Amino acid sequence: MQVIDIHNHFFPHSWPDLAARYGTPNWPWIKHTETGKADIMVGDNFFRHIYSACWDPEVRLQEMDRDRVDTQVISATPVLFAYERPVDQALDCARLFNDAALELCSRGKGRLKSFCQVPLQDTDAACEELSRSMKAGHVGVQIGNHVGGKNLDDSGIVTFLQHCADEGAAVLVHPWAMFGRDRMPKYMMPWTVGMPAETQLSVVALILSGALDRLPDSLRICFAHGGGSFAFLLGRLENAWHHHPVARGDCEHPPSNYLHRFYVDSAVFDQRSLQFLVETMGADRVMLGSDYPFPLGEERTGSLIRQSKLSPEVKAKLLSGNALRFLGLRAEAKSTETPKPSPEFNSSPITPHAGQLTYSSYLKVPELLDLQRPQSAPTHHDELLFIIVHQTYELWFKELLHDLDAVVANLQRAGADPDAHDEVYEAARLLRRCTEITRVLVEQFTILETMLPTHFLAFRGLLEPASGFQSEQFREIEFLCGLKDEKMLRYHRPTPEAYSSLKRRLEEPSLHDVFFDALQAMGKLTVPAEGATEPERFEARARAVHALYKDERHCRDWIDVCERLTEFDELVVSWRLRHIQLVERIIGIRMGTGGSAGASYLKLTLGKKFFPELWEARTLLTE
Ligand code: HEM
Repeated sequence: MQVIDIHNHFFPHSWPDLAARYGTPNWPWIKHTETGKADIMVGDNFFRHIYSACWDPEVRLQEMDRDRVDTQVISATPVLFAYERPVDQALDCARLFNDAALELCSRGKGRLKSFCQVPLQDTDAACEELSRSMKAGHVGVQIGNHVGGKNLDDSGIVTFLQHCADEGAAVLVHPWAMFGRDRMPKYMMPWTVGMPAETQLSVVALILSGALDRLPDSLRICFAHGGGSFAFLLGRLENAWHHHPVARGDCEHPPSNYLHRFYVDSAVFDQRSLQFLVETMGADRVMLGSDYPFPLGEERTGSLIRQSKLSPEVKAKLLSGNALRFLGLRAEAKSTETPKPSPEFNSSPITPHAGQLTYSSYLKVPELLDLQRPQSAPTHHDELLFIIVHQTYELWFKELLHDLDAVVANLQRAGADPDAHDEVYEAARLLRRCTEITRVLVEQFTILETMLPTHFLAFRGLLEPASGFQSEQFREIEFLCGLKDEKMLRYHRPTPEAYSSLKRRLEEPSLHDVFFDALQAMGKLTVPAEGATEPERFEARARAVHALYKDERHCRDWIDVCERLTEFDELVVSWRLRHIQLVERIIGIRMGTGGSAGASYLKLTLGKKFFPELWEARTLLTE
């Protein structure tokens, strides 16, 4: 799992003297105080102590390794926004820091990505710089949560957000220039009180103004610091919306209906707050954000999430999956976006909040869609199909094992109690499912046959020495049904867990064993004399099946089991045959990646049957 931190800051080691460049005072500058340490100054005033992680990628990468963070998306520091400056100066300044961000990323060994900044006071200039930056390699933009007196619902800012959606740029909203500063002169209150309120104000403005109704679903926007006080006070907002018409604003739905439209980061520094945030926003909406490497940032990035009581699946979303979707780094992730509710669905019981179980969270769709990792670079178009087809087979193999295990248990109980007809009925019912699944498995090869042999050969070399011989579940099915070939264990030595579960299957009674044990318990199978040869034993078993068919009136349920087992056997042979045809069609008579002679070897497996006695019994039947 790739751990991604979407909220952290950088500061270049140096940049031109902006005060001299523009002839205006009070620009930020960096004062290096001692090796690896510096102060951010604004004009003559001290603003903040910083250290080399702000500008030195080596230090950043070391600390990322320490914190087990794979990727950081860096952004400038709000003090550099320059929204209050003339637009030409702010644009020039944005370009300077945007290029500096990319330069730092270029030394980040592929682990640093960046958000640009834009002169948000001028919509055209902001859109232009966003487009330039996206082309240059930024993955999105960090914006301040207001421009002077204009909130995010300002028409110019909404136009800019529309442009971000059009450009596929992720937007991180960071509070800055906090209101009420004259009442918060001490104790860092602008950061601890002002910032959360600023952020809440921005989210509320976007919702109540109806801006989120007008902006497309494709807009990916995140609010820093857990969305400020928004989640905690959502109930108050919702209550006002329902009871005071004046508090409704212009939005089409109650505020809680918009939670699926934005993300928040995890910078809340408290387990209960994180838990509450996930419950309120939903596990798909919270992402790791650390505020690194500033003093108010998380000391060990990711520790809040890692040490939380959230489930491993939710942790994976917060540390990785949600950020991949937010950053647009994974095309498939779009399908996990909750669609915007349309008015006719207003009465739907589905409200996307409060950690409610969703289609996606129940089925683990994001995790599932994250499991296809092509090896070819650049990715060969057909490798995704190759992976998905094999994964689909493995999923069905899993279901087959699940059902066949149940059939074994049913037949064991039937053997223990010959009057237990329900068990026999249930075994036949589940076997029917197994045959239907196998029928699908036979059919599925046609999808893979849409891949040209040349296209497969383009990436086949990358797969060696992986081979179908190593399909643990396929071998488990064989062993479970009674085809136990100990030699095949050798292909599983590289994976001790697979090796030991196959070994266990070898030792456990097979479906073949329990079926005939049950016939013996019912008195249908005459136990061969001590010292009988295997052919004699085989014949005794075939005669027991023969006896069932001859006594149809009393043995209908068992005959049904026999028919299902026969059909299953038949379909597995069909699977083998279709697999061979596919192999010949795609690689001809080449050797397999597992070292076998390929198709000619596979043809030898066509004679394998799980229940040969069921076939023999047919020969024994007389007219
Ligand atoms: C391009 C498509 C495929 C080719 C060229 C191919 C080729 C082969 C070859 C040559 C073998 C023999 C073992 C070896 O030497 O590697 C084999 C075995 C096997 N393959 Fe495939 N295969 C393909 C697709 C599939 C698919 C879609 C599945 C689905 C699960 C599959 C499952 C298996 C299994 C289970 C075995 C072991 C069979 C046995 O031991 O009886 N193969 N494959």
